[in-house]
Amino acid sequence: MCGIVGAVAQRNVVPILIEGLRRLEYRGYDSAGIAILNAGMERVRSVGRVSDLEARAREMHAIAPTGIAHTRWATHGGVSEKNAHPHFSSRDGVEVSVVHNGIIENHEALRARLLGAGYRFVSDTDTEVIAHLLHSHVASGLKLFEAMQRTVRELDGAYAIAAIRVGEPHTVVGSRRGSPLLLGVGESNPEGCENFLASDTSALLQVTRRVAYLEDGDVVRIGTDGYSIVDAEGKPARRPIVESQLSAESIDLGRYEHYMQKEIFEQPGAIANTLEMVTNASSVSAGLFGAEADEIFARTKHILILACGTSYHAGLVAKYWLEAIAGIPVSVEIASEYRYRDSVALPKTLVVTVSQSGETADTLAALQHATTLGLRDSLSICNVPESALVRQSRLRFLTRAGPEIGVASTKAFTTQLTVLFVLALVLARQRRRLAPSREQELLAQLRHLPAAMNHVLACEDAVRHWANRFAPKQHALFLGRGVHFPIAQEGALKLKEISYIHAEAYAAGELKHGPLALVDRDMPVVVVAPNDALIEKLKSNLHEVRARGGELFVFADRDTLIEPSDGINIINLGDHAGLLSPILHVVPLQLLAYHVALVRGTDVDKPRNLANSVTVE
Ligand code: G6P
Repeated sequence: MCGIVGAVAQRNVVPILIEGLRRLEYRGYDSAGIAILNAGMERVRSVGRVSDLEARAREMHAIAPTGIAHTRWATHGGVSEKNAHPHFSSRDGVEVSVVHNGIIENHEALRARLLGAGYRFVSDTDTEVIAHLLHSHVASGLKLFEAMQRTVRELDGAYAIAAIRVGEPHTVVGSRRGSPLLLGVGESNPEGCENFLASDTSALLQVTRRVAYLEDGDVVRIGTDGYSIVDAEGKPARRPIVESQLSAESIDLGRYEHYMQKEIFEQPGAIANTLEMVTNASSVSAGLFGAEADEIFARTKHILILACGTSYHAGLVAKYWLEAIAGIPVSVEIASEYRYRDSVALPKTLVVTVSQSGETADTLAALQHATTLGLRDSLSICNVPESALVRQSRLRFLTRAGPEIGVASTKAFTTQLTVLFVLALVLARQRRRLAPSREQELLAQLRHLPAAMNHVLACEDAVRHWANRFAPKQHALFLGRGVHFPIAQEGALKLKEISYIHAEAYAAGELKHGPLALVDRDMPVVVVAPNDALIEKLKSNLHEVRARGGELFVFADRDTLIEPSDGINIINLGDHAGLLSPILHVVPLQLLAYHVALVRGTDVDKPRNLANSVTVE
């Protein structure tokens, strides 16, 4: 969701800005633009892809040593060129240009004030108030860096901003609060140095790996003479420079057609990486979650899981495991609901946030809300080491899935599940609910998980065949029971997200309380049907569907009790994986969504209206 790149160098930065935007495409966007600074300022914007913007920039022969760039995911104001960033404010010989990620909550009040001061608005965005506000401070005689400090003091809401102005060459300023922004420190030589700003490291890998994560409230100035940072109080601040471990290959498509496909097939490796510290040990220990974990887990009486989207589904699965294995009561809440709900905070609650990006605005706000209710024990299960969520949590376990570029989350989900399962084992062990022999057995199953998943991935051809039959449908039902109900929910979400087929998931036992009314021959019903304790119950639910003419597509285990027949299609995934079964059973559902989307010709990695990283509420 909205990506920012800024650059100053002693060479042309336009290719750097465009390449940066291309690498941020995965975040989700609907328009893009750049503004460059020579003696004057020029801008090029376009609705659609970064490649369109690049073509336009080429036509314009855009060349400059300083610039800012942006991919926009529309919030305030529709998708149009006039709403695309950068936004300009130009009056009385002062010209500034601004890009912004986030939402300015007091934009209406600011707009009224700025209108009163004679500013004219040409877009429907909240961002334009930042441009005019910054302009007003520059026009009063401040340098851009000071003007930005003054500007952000007047903003409410979440933002990452970058700005340039005519008359201050080789200078870009930025600021952040609630939305991500980092500084990239580039090459330096006797003539000067190059420095960058970006929403995430992947945008800068082409020019530098040395990055500093800005803190909330920081204002930064980058130039060819170096950089400076002040904190929210305006005091000079130092932020540690770290060497990013992200490899350029990990964000290349390689032999795959889409990132989603690549990421589905990366899952066995991603799980093996995530589990490295666990499977190499002879037993699970609280220390895996951080130095304080032993003490915090020992006092934990209740767990509250907060997350959004796919990560929320991981939390729902975890509830079954944590209650069954560790005997700890668990509530799972959608972060955007929890943050605004009057809830009862139970003492001795461990707040667990689950997030791929670690920057999801609602999850961050939900964690902060929990803290204000006095819940201070927090654990983040996250894929991005330096993300805000990880930095704000006392305990952490990083999923080592590598960058997830496809908007539809896959490997982040299965690695999150893996970590949540380990959490259940650690808590069970600490509470003496896990006999050493059972612990060894479960550890052996975890070690085998990547191989078992490779086996499941081999069902791709059979799934592809089913996809052709799904593609013409308008609706689909997904059924599951017990710990596999959230897996059915995740399967339905995947299908909706990338194939645009309306899909709903139900706990199979609920079928007769409503959704059965929808079942006819046009309603394909996908069933998650492992050989677990509920299989007989599930079989009865399937008869209810068949009796109404619904066609069943069943993902079962080897030796399943469900017989294929007319209207009952079955794919056998392999041996039943016991407690780990949900981690395997989601994989064919990911493949189904992927192949249906391919047949329907949708933009698999960048589905319409969606974003990979949702940094606004
Ligand atoms: C967006 C993404 C989903 C993701 C959700 C939560 O909606 O498209 O794939 O599950 O955000 O993101 P997080 O980074 O917190 O896991």
